[in-house]
Amino acid sequence: MDYLSTNRIKIPVIGFGTWDVRGEKGRKAIERSIENGYRLIDTASYYENEEIVGKAVRNSIEKGLVNREDLFITTKIWPNEFSDPETAIERSMSKLGLDYVDLYLVHWPQNSLDLRTRAYNGLEKALEEGITKYIGVSNYSIEQIEELADRSSTPPAVNQVHVSPFRYPRPLIEYCQDNEIVIEAYTPLEHGRQSDNRTLRQIAENHDKTPEQVMLRWSVQKGLVPLPKANRPEHQRLNLDIFDFVLGDDEMRMLDNLP
Ligand SMILES: NC(=O)c1ccc[n+]([C@@H]2O[C@H](COP(=O)([O-])OP(=O)(O)OC[C@H]3O[C@@H](n4cnc5c(N)ncnc54)[C@H](OP(=O)(O)O)[C@@H]3O)[C@@H](O)[C@H]2O)c1
Repeated sequence: MDYLSTNRIKIPVIGFGTWDVRGEKGRKAIERSIENGYRLIDTASYYENEEIVGKAVRNSIEKGLVNREDLFITTKIWPNEFSDPETAIERSMSKLGLDYVDLYLVHWPQNSLDLRTRAYNGLEKALEEGITKYIGVSNYSIEQIEELADRSSTPPAVNQVHVSPFRYPRPLIEYCQDNEIVIEAYTPLEHGRQSDNRTLRQIAENHDKTPEQVMLRWSVQKGLVPLPKANRPEHQRLNLDIFDFVLGDDEMRMLDNLP
């Protein structure tokens, strides 16, 4: 797995999303994703699946498939937990059953500025205590990131936001990249519902790839970290098979401006 590095963070170039990945079937899908080569697993207290993520990680380590230090586990604190971040972090860590996570995010900038600042300051404390290696935010605007700067001492290493060729918040991406904040792209496949787009299909045909692979390749070439979710093994495999082709400048421009 290749990594993206800034002055603040070293992170795999692609991750595995786990929204709506649940139960035994979900645990198996997560273990399969690790077998297939994913190293970044994205969960959240809100997903109510931290237990199966932790179990899948522990099982994969026990089976000798991977070492803990080669995995990159992310979780997030949800707005209804902002008033007491310490308890929320303890709860998530206990569900995960891990000694540390790699990245802890404030999931949404909901609630008052005071409350979301309290949550972020709680993550800063977890960082000091070694509970997490990096901290960041999710769904934050430029203004909300700037508000944080006056109220915290650790800048976010990541902003996880909805990005795909169909949803391209260019000013936010440029601002984050200029400020050493990695953009993780969530819903990078638009749930697999945009593959009929003619331009996308044509570009996919040019490279003998699927429209979804082109969407992920676009993300990676933009310097984003896409987090595709896939229960199906075939999807998991296809979504990692995006490192043997390059989109040309013209193709990238067409994808930036999809009709
Ligand atoms: N921070 C936030 O607020 C936030 C919000 C939303 C999502 N996220 C994160 O981002 C992750 C991904 O987003 P998402 O789950 O919303 O959507 P997504 O990854 O864009 O789409 C997932 C859907 O696409 C299908 N799929 C996967 N690979 C495919 C392929 N190669 N070809 C065709 N279809 C394919 C999957 O099917 P199968 O499952 O059947 O394989 C699944 O139905 C989430 O799981 C979560 O970790 C974060």
